[in-house]
Amino acid sequence: MSLQGRTTLITGAATGIGRATALLFAQAGARVVINHWRQSAEAQALVDQIRAAGGEALAAEADVSNAGAVQAMAEQIGPVDVLVNNAGIIQEKSFLETTEADWDRMLGVDLKAVFLVCRAFIPGMLDKGQGAIVNIASDLGILGRERYAPYCAAKAGVIGLTKSLAREFAPQQIRVNAIAPGPVATAMVSLEHMSAEWVEKELAIPQHRLGAPEDIAATALFLASDLSGFYTGQVLGPNGGSVMP
Ligand SMILES: NC(=O)c1ccc[n+]([C@@H]2O[C@H](COP(=O)([O-])OP(=O)(O)OC[C@H]3O[C@@H](n4cnc5c(N)ncnc54)[C@H](O)[C@@H]3O)[C@@H](O)[C@H]2O)c1
Repeated sequence: MSLQGRTTLITGAATGIGRATALLFAQAGARVVINHWRQSAEAQALVDQIRAAGGEALAAEADVSNAGAVQAMAEQIGPVDVLVNNAGIIQEKSFLETTEADWDRMLGVDLKAVFLVCRAFIPGMLDKGQGAIVNIASDLGILGRERYAPYCAAKAGVIGLTKSLAREFAPQQIRVNAIAPGPVATAMVSLEHMSAEWVEKELAIPQHRLGAPEDIAATALFLASDLSGFYTGQVLGPNGGSVMP
């Protein structure tokens, strides 16, 4: 699963799944651009770690929900071969307490940003005559969940956007796929109230564990590499068996 000679952009890559993906892509030979928002120290530490291991990396700060910031980042880093739309936020709130501002913020980062970043980087892929886009959705975009309506709506939207772009750009050799992970042990999942018993009972994962960021990174590497050349418009589910469509 080599990414030798490929330039890859991973959004929200200073922590969690994005960070694990950056490390794995660098090991696979990619030049890795680590997008982050207000996490300069974490992003620079990751760049240093990749460079110390002989890899190529650079950090690019941009709020991916802001069209101007995304365009400026595209001009700064130039065209990429692989794009992983990973940046995301989550909020727990009852539906009736959810404000218009909550909705706009969640949909801005979790859905609109995928549109903005794809729109900024697909032209470069068209010039190169190939590209691979991997969008990080969520199993909650398929299942839905009480108290998480904007997040679930956004992630379901990411799946629809993925399939539409896959159809539109298949003739130009741009593959667009999504990953719908089950629960993964990162900052996004509030581990403090997740005892082993709670995970066992509430999440009922057949493999009896949360995902690790590396589990999702491995799926992203597959979808970014030429090994997945006949995949487009697909949603892969690294989830320990919790969802079996
Ligand atoms: N952890 C889980 O259980 C889980 C499950 C399914 C899907 N996901 C998805 O995986 C992705 C990564 O999440 P994670 O679990 O690694 O959590 P995380 O909080 O560690 O990572 C999210 C990253 O996105 C960045 N980010 C947030 N807003 C941004 C913005 N406007 N611009 C640029 N970067 C921004 C954050 O700073 C953070 O580094 C998210 O899209 C999340 O929805 C996570």
